[in-house]
Amino acid sequence: MLAIMGAMDEEIELLLAELQERETLERPGVTLYRGVLEGVPVLLTKGGIGKVNAAMTATHLLHAGATRVIFTGVAGGVHPNLRVGDIVVSTDLVQHDVDVTALNYAPGTIPGETPCWAADEHLRAVALEAAREVEGVQTVEGRVASGDQFIASSEGVQRLWTEFSASCAEMEGAAVAQVCAKAGVPFVVIRSVSDTADHSANVDYRTFMPLVARHAKQVVRGMLTRLGASAGA
Ligand code: ADE
Repeated sequence: MLAIMGAMDEEIELLLAELQERETLERPGVTLYRGVLEGVPVLLTKGGIGKVNAAMTATHLLHAGATRVIFTGVAGGVHPNLRVGDIVVSTDLVQHDVDVTALNYAPGTIPGETPCWAADEHLRAVALEAAREVEGVQTVEGRVASGDQFIASSEGVQRLWTEFSASCAEMEGAAVAQVCAKAGVPFVVIRSVSDTADHSANVDYRTFMPLVARHAKQVVRGMLTRLGASAGA
């Protein structure tokens, strides 16, 4: 079954309102919803903010039968061409706050693990097609950098750009990616840009987050239409 996950109410409430045949599955620390969206059976949930919440929720989704995972939400733009409202479809994901450099590991690398988790090619292609239908915004494919930090400085942006070649910064995607990769479950992360992660990020985030969350939701809907038309959704 396809699972759709966000971190905050604003990121999933529009989809939840449209969920048909809705059932509630209570799990420790999280509520999962099972139902049908655009004719496709789905699991839908809000996992909460940060990597621990994201990993826990992804694990519950996999136990509940998720065989593909889409993460939808907002992010701070890091790529210099990105503007508020634009969409990033993940190529791969890194945990920018992991630091074992004292033991000679590259920044972001957990010893014994891959430095970056690659998103599924098919889900990426479907997401990209759907994202290009959202009017008035640009869509880029790129690396998503996750960490338990809200980035709000030009130094922070610069670090993510130069050290990780990240397109955007958020707080969950790579944790979901790590859990899914370990289980062999395909995933993709779709983020719309709520701020540019610099000195005005806190104000911009509060102003634009509810508005741009709609773009990511539009992409998910477009993906469901496409995935519903193909076998095994
Ligand atoms: N999500 C949205 N904007 C963000 C930022 N600037 N840093 C981290 N996560 C975010």
